[in-house]
Amino acid sequence: MEEFVTLTYNGSEIKLPVVIGTEGEKAIDITNLRSETGFITLDPGYANTGSCTSAITFMDGEKGILRYRGIPVEQLAENATFKETAYLLIHGRLPNRDELTQFSIMLNDNSLVHTDMKAFYQNFPRASHPMGILSSMVNAMRSFYPILENESEKEEITLTMTRLLAKVRTMAAMSYKISRGHELVLPRPDLTYCENFLNMMFETPVKPYEINRAAVNALRVFWILHADHEQNCSTSAVRVVGSARVNLYAAISSGISALWGPLHGGANQAVIEMLTEIQEDGGNFNKYIEKAKDKKDPFRMMGFGHRVYKTYDPRAKIMKKMCDELLESMNIKDPLLDIAKELEEVATKDPYFVDHNLYPNIDFYSGIVLRAIGIPTNMFTVMFAIGRLPGWIAQWKESMDDPKWKICRPRQVYTGNTAFDFVPIHARR
Ligand code: SDX
Repeated sequence: MEEFVTLTYNGSEIKLPVVIGTEGEKAIDITNLRSETGFITLDPGYANTGSCTSAITFMDGEKGILRYRGIPVEQLAENATFKETAYLLIHGRLPNRDELTQFSIMLNDNSLVHTDMKAFYQNFPRASHPMGILSSMVNAMRSFYPILENESEKEEITLTMTRLLAKVRTMAAMSYKISRGHELVLPRPDLTYCENFLNMMFETPVKPYEINRAAVNALRVFWILHADHEQNCSTSAVRVVGSARVNLYAAISSGISALWGPLHGGANQAVIEMLTEIQEDGGNFNKYIEKAKDKKDPFRMMGFGHRVYKTYDPRAKIMKKMCDELLESMNIKDPLLDIAKELEEVATKDPYFVDHNLYPNIDFYSGIVLRAIGIPTNMFTVMFAIGRLPGWIAQWKESMDDPKWKICRPRQVYTGNTAFDFVPIHARR
């Protein structure tokens, strides 16, 4: 039986339908609010506003639950490959053996980058941030991979999704190699998705890269944990930009730009910079806990807090465990991990952090894993982007397939000048 809420104002009332999700989440459908009442809603940062219904990812911020298409992320991190997870998010179910083989063949066949794109890379200043390069290069892909005359829309979309998943690793490794003045290393058909990326990053003509199993596994888990997170800032950017019916490359490029922000995906780089600053400051993390609590200090504890999780981010738990396992297997001692653990221990008992529901999020430990693998700090957010790409694609596809989807165009409450006449220049003071 349909449920409603009643809104009353100045003696009049309106019934608004209630939408109930499969996990019992409730929403008030305000589709007709303005046409029936003249009112709009106001919700800065959209903390209370659902932009869509979605069947891709479920998060429970109070219980710290995260599931992709119904499968708990813990089980995917334990058992799945990143390719399987990407397929699951985009197509709505895990692939059977034949589908996975076909998917792998398509990713391999499309893993090279157009040779003319190399000139683009070489003309970026050497110190360019890899996220700026990646968002530019992904946007440029429409120029290098235009729609072919005989291609149906369905074929073009499938090919575009495949090209993005296949080439993003190659493009990321290219920016790293070119920034160091090194020879490019091409993808190999005999390596897995994760192995190929590490090989393209670290293989050199004079020093073959020895595939480290622990590093490959850590990268697999890292990318699975980052693969989707419902309507976060960058995914919302992809949906909003995609709603104008622009090509998928351009929509994904907007997601990369949004993710670059230090309050979002850029936090993994900011955490390592913060932990390094604490280390250089004698390891005095209590000083930084106090800075985070001081309203007059713009400093925020990077890697802590979350718009949805008001408890420990389930991904951070897995990432923290991965740090211990990876560093032990690689026989690495990282002082930043010790600082991070001590800081977490003290902060999560501090009333300010407890009262504000501030717990470690995925970015707090993820940088330690990337450092151990050998990824340079300025590429940490690129690593997040590679992981999030299947989620962005899945969310874009779901919005394009939604018959009720329309161009995103929020309203506003105007608080500027009321009307007054133009004053000619000679009359102005
Ligand atoms: C990601 O949305 C997603 O799903 C994102 C993500 C994904 O997978 O896509 O999970 C990835 O972006 C994780 C978040 C990474 N960012 C950081 O670690 C940056 C540090 N954290 C924050 O700046 C903050 O916690 C946010 C941005 C993550 C969330 O901000 P909100 O929900 O808008 O909360 P807020 O800024 O309104 O803060 C509420 C209160 C404020 O205090 P009061 O004014 O109410 O007293 O909490 C305080 C804030 O000052 N606060 C912090 C804090 N985060 C919030 N105080 C100190 N340190 C912090 N990190």
